[in-house]
Amino acid sequence: MEFAKVVRSRRMVRHYTGEPVAEEGLARIMDTARRGPSAGFSQGLAFVVVTEADLRSKIAHIAEEPEYVRRRFEPWLSSAPVHVVCCVSEAAYRRRYEEPDKRKPSGKPRAWPVPYWYVDGGCALMLLLLAAVDEGLAAGFLDLDPQGYVQLRRLLDIPEEVVPIGLVTLGYPAPDRRSGSVARGLRPLGEVVHRNHWGGA
Ligand SMILES: Cc1cc2nc3c(=O)[nH]c(=O)nc-3n(C[C@H](O)[C@H](O)[C@H](O)COP(=O)(O)O)c2cc1C
Repeated sequence: MEFAKVVRSRRMVRHYTGEPVAEEGLARIMDTARRGPSAGFSQGLAFVVVTEADLRSKIAHIAEEPEYVRRRFEPWLSSAPVHVVCCVSEAAYRRRYEEPDKRKPSGKPRAWPVPYWYVDGGCALMLLLLAAVDEGLAAGFLDLDPQGYVQLRRLLDIPEEVVPIGLVTLGYPAPDRRSGSVARGLRPLGEVVHRNHWGGA
């Protein structure tokens, strides 16, 4: 699919038909998702792809799906045949930046004003969402509350040094309720893009 079309047709989908996703398609999506940029090419990213029905049902409970369904939302997680937990490792970045080619010439420790592991996690997440659209599928992203992440970590044996940053659902789209947030509309381009100086048109 043409890139502009992929970008413009992507939206968070919160309900799926339940039709399984072919392994080859899933492999292509995950192969794309790992090709994003990473600071120092640290590649401190990982994905846990969950297709086992029992695990997906447990994840739906962790995300409090029954509560949302009671409030008349569609069953988002339990209808999705694939859940992908996106993870980052801060430690992997810190280790990489201790390597000789990455150490500061001054010898000073890096201050990390921007936590690159989250920047790269966002890049990977975007690739994953777009790759799903390109594959003719739909995707949705959700985050959990702190206790939810603790439970998810335990359920999927995610190591201590790895931080799950959220969950992507993949599948064939079914009619769903769009987030109320989108009613806010896309901010005008001129409000987002500043020319030469902040506020410049
Ligand atoms: C960091 C992040 C966290 C999000 N968390 C949730 C979430 O927990 N639940 C949800 O329904 N949508 C979540 N969203 C989706 C946003 O609501 C959605 O992207 C936004 O409303 C724009 O809609 P669109 O992506 O369909 O265009 C999240 C998006 C991002 C980028």
